[in-house]
Amino acid sequence: MRTQIGIIGAGPAGLLLSHLLHLRGIDSVVLESRTREQIESTIRAGVLEQGTMDLLTEAGVGARMKAEGALHHGFELAFEGKRRRIDLTGLTGHSITVYAQHEVIKDLVAARIAAGGALRFGVSETSLHDIETDSPSIRYRHEGEACELQCDFVIGCDGSQGVSRASIPQALRKDFERVYPFGWFGILCEGPPSSEELIYARHERGFALISTRSRNVQRMYFQCDPKDSVDHWSDDRIWAELHARVDSHDGQKLVDGKIFQKNIVGMRSFVSATMQHGRLFLAGDAAHIVPPTGAKGMNLAVADVRVLTRALKAFYVENRTDLLDSYSETALKRIWRAEHFSYWMTSMMHRIEGASPFEQQLQVAELEYVTTSRAAATVMAENYVGVAAV
Ligand code: PHB
Repeated sequence: MRTQIGIIGAGPAGLLLSHLLHLRGIDSVVLESRTREQIESTIRAGVLEQGTMDLLTEAGVGARMKAEGALHHGFELAFEGKRRRIDLTGLTGHSITVYAQHEVIKDLVAARIAAGGALRFGVSETSLHDIETDSPSIRYRHEGEACELQCDFVIGCDGSQGVSRASIPQALRKDFERVYPFGWFGILCEGPPSSEELIYARHERGFALISTRSRNVQRMYFQCDPKDSVDHWSDDRIWAELHARVDSHDGQKLVDGKIFQKNIVGMRSFVSATMQHGRLFLAGDAAHIVPPTGAKGMNLAVADVRVLTRALKAFYVENRTDLLDSYSETALKRIWRAEHFSYWMTSMMHRIEGASPFEQQLQVAELEYVTTSRAAATVMAENYVGVAAV
């Protein structure tokens, strides 16, 4: 089989890229190792920057997001018994939307299928070939058969464990990594929101985040040992921990509900530089990971896709390669800004084992500063909404 763009991975990056290329008259095939049911039900984060909303809308998949997503004009930082608001819209003119990543995936899959797009689920044994030539190919197994996809370009959107990044020779690539000694315990529960806006709470027992999914479903997290198991956490123990970390802040009172999903995620910062080699380009988690504290993961994937779509269009329509040549350099500017922001938020909000009393006071001093100085609050807000200068 032959196509113009072979895309590995049907996450937000791969699906959105495929659809945007289709709208520009460029053909692609998306190969995914998981099933459609798996990608449509995997619970991930849910904060969309305005720029992400704009690109999804331009792709024609924004209707449900606009109807069901919740527009947020600010969020709260809770610490030392206080709750202080970061006025995103007042400080930057922009807001964010809370809409779950797997809902974005459902919308994109539906759009690809409605447009007759080629999507192969459940592929295995994927390998990349001849990426240093003008006619690369992807070999894989699908429904028991050995297949080969010939293409002009391969785009690796297959996450941090995928085969794509490993196809760039290690000698040409530098990996930058920081692993945090804590994780997030995430729950989904039934019940009304405890707060109209997200609350990021710093507490001596550890960080907690109160987020939402809808009027009836809430998303909450608390800092935990990344090696812990959800089996050690009864619902009562989870609620006791969340109440202890969140309720003390200035009259805040969490509303309990029936917990129907529990998971633990590790926290890591990672960047692969370069993000391209020959005819292979990486996008999203295949090239970079951020800890979830800054809510940047999916937004960065979508930003990569914006740069890549423009570069591929310039190649096919204007016969230009300059935008492809500079893809990694262009994308990495935004990525490093988001890496710093996510690291900063994470370091300021979490309980750091072994931190001295002096270091703990520095965290508090920084929170005091970002919540009282308009200049400092603007730094926080413009990074959060995704319009910080790079
Ligand atoms: C979420 O709702 O899942 C969420 C919100 C904000 C974050 C991370 C996750 O920073």
